[in-house]
Amino acid sequence: MRKLLSVVAFASGLFAQIPVTDPLVVAKCSGCHAKDDKGNLSRISELRSAPEGWQQALKRMVRLHGLTLSADDARKIVQYLGDQHGLAPEEAKPGIYYFEKRHLDQEKYPEVVREACVSCHPYGQAMNWRRTPKEWDLLVNMHIGYFPVVQWNSFTGSMRGPGAPGAPSAPAADTRTPVEKAIEQMKKDFPLETKEWAEWTASRRQAKLAGRWLLSATQPGKGGFIGEVSIEPGATPNEWVTRSSMTSIETGQTVTREGKSVLYTGYSWRGRSGTKDNAVREVMLVSRDQGQMEGRWFWGAYDETGFDVKLTRAEERPLILKTSVTSLRMGSTSSFKIFGDQFATGLTPADLDLGAGVTVKRILNQSRTMVEIEVEVAAKTALGLRDIAVKRAVAPASIAVYDTVDYIKTATDTALGRLGGGSGVFTKGFVQFEAIGYNRGLDGKPNTIDDIKLGPVKAEWSMEEFFAIYGDDDVQFVGALDPKTGLFTPSVEGPNPKRKFSRNNYGDVWAVATYKGADAAVSKDGKPLTAKCYLLVTVPQYMRWDQPEVAQ
Ligand code: HEC
Ligand code: HEC
Repeated sequence: MRKLLSVVAFASGLFAQIPVTDPLVVAKCSGCHAKDDKGNLSRISELRSAPEGWQQALKRMVRLHGLTLSADDARKIVQYLGDQHGLAPEEAKPGIYYFEKRHLDQEKYPEVVREACVSCHPYGQAMNWRRTPKEWDLLVNMHIGYFPVVQWNSFTGSMRGPGAPGAPSAPAADTRTPVEKAIEQMKKDFPLETKEWAEWTASRRQAKLAGRWLLSATQPGKGGFIGEVSIEPGATPNEWVTRSSMTSIETGQTVTREGKSVLYTGYSWRGRSGTKDNAVREVMLVSRDQGQMEGRWFWGAYDETGFDVKLTRAEERPLILKTSVTSLRMGSTSSFKIFGDQFATGLTPADLDLGAGVTVKRILNQSRTMVEIEVEVAAKTALGLRDIAVKRAVAPASIAVYDTVDYIKTATDTALGRLGGGSGVFTKGFVQFEAIGYNRGLDGKPNTIDDIKLGPVKAEWSMEEFFAIYGDDDVQFVGALDPKTGLFTPSVEGPNPKRKFSRNNYGDVWAVATYKGADAAVSKDGKPLTAKCYLLVTVPQYMRWDQPEVAQ
């Protein structure tokens, strides 16, 4: 009997649990989540997630189960669970886009979850959890309990199993429902116990982030930015106070922000900076050697606008951060700026190296953080990415040498805009389009693996009807696309009497980029280079499932 019990205990994952040692968590949760003699709280000890995951669960405890928490206790609990029941850096990286609020038009997920899971929320919701097998099963119950309809539409599928039309005949017939297949995959891919988590919990140390960090960033449609962030210790060892400055390479305009941040699990940065009405949320991952942070700073009603940000710890050594151009054309003479830190004084052209065929003619300006140079690129030289060297500082594969822009692509294939601004209740969801130039690469064929990404090109923007419905007139109603900047401003929400059936201003259109630069390849029919992005403009989002408070 004893033996049998221990087998059951093992099978139910008892040995794999994470005890809860924080008195506040025990006090607040153990009323409903029973505590065993090893200090495990039911359910909670069998789960790991990112801070946003814990916050979402916590909110449901408050909303549906009557848990009462002060904002301060909620913060402390999310900090504890995010730290002790968190994700290892390698586990967090693939799913961080979900918290960075990136618009991904091609989220990657295993085919088996398409019907059962991603019909409601992105895969990012699921892949940021680690659970025991039992907990993955209970998650299914939670969904069915709250969304009974899920049984019919997503989880079981309508026509399944042997006898369904088109089902393969025995013996290979797979009679499992979509949710059974999906959960089996989850159990396999996202178990509670992993090598990564074991290694991280054994080797992590208190992060020491205070000091001066160098910032380089890009914002779609706005180009590159450089700047600095000073990080100082905050109220607790996991809190930080920041002061950042960011200068646009294109306009020279500088913006400064003051902010606060929390570090979870020793590497996961959640910050907020700027003023109350103009706040930027910061989601970044700190590298294992604590020398770099990378992520996204974003804002807007739908977090639609943002910078891709990289911070590098400033040290007593020269380094290159960014260049004012991303490509150089063969047969041209041009000047550009290289931004960095600790550059030596009195640099001469011989101190710089951009590889064969690129001659540094003159140094036009220089300082500790910038060197502006004039370069001449040979009429014929090797296509491809070059390293940039300023004395011993090297930025590998940082600038492309090319002859023609052979084709352009929009930064994403699809985009989502939201009507708003009419009633004053719902804010517009803007879309910033960007066109990227490509060179055909060494094989001479476009759209192959060796193609060279040249960076954003100055395209002209227009809209075209997407012919989904006969007599479609969406182009006239969805909003305005700025022909020069590529910024789409959606129309107001609500019924429009000017429209057939007084419909809302929603619709779908093509956003079209046309590039006529002097370096554009000339096609046989003499037509300019174009690219299209499918733009869906829909009604405001009336309910949100996310947690903007994690960093507060
Ligand atoms: C008043 C009772 C009650 C309290 C107090 C409570 N919970 Fe829960 N909790 C529940 C119930 C009921 C469920 C199962 C239904 C669900 O998932 O919403 C649950 C489920 C959960 C789950 C599993 C959700 C999932 O993803 O499957 C987590 C995580 C959780 N609670 C965390 C907490 C934490 C952390 C605390 C303490 C801060 C807490 N709960 C306090 C009642 C409570
Ligand atoms: C009917 C739509 C729907 C489907 C289908 C669905 N989910 Fe969810 N899921 C939700 C909603 C809504 C929430 C957020 C619940 C809340 O507000 O706390 C959620 C939350 C979650 C969470 C977070 C758990 C927590 O405690 O908050 C995970 C993990 C998850 N889903 C995984 C999955 C997986 C895996 C599948 C496929 C087997 C799936 N979901 C299918 C709607 C769905």
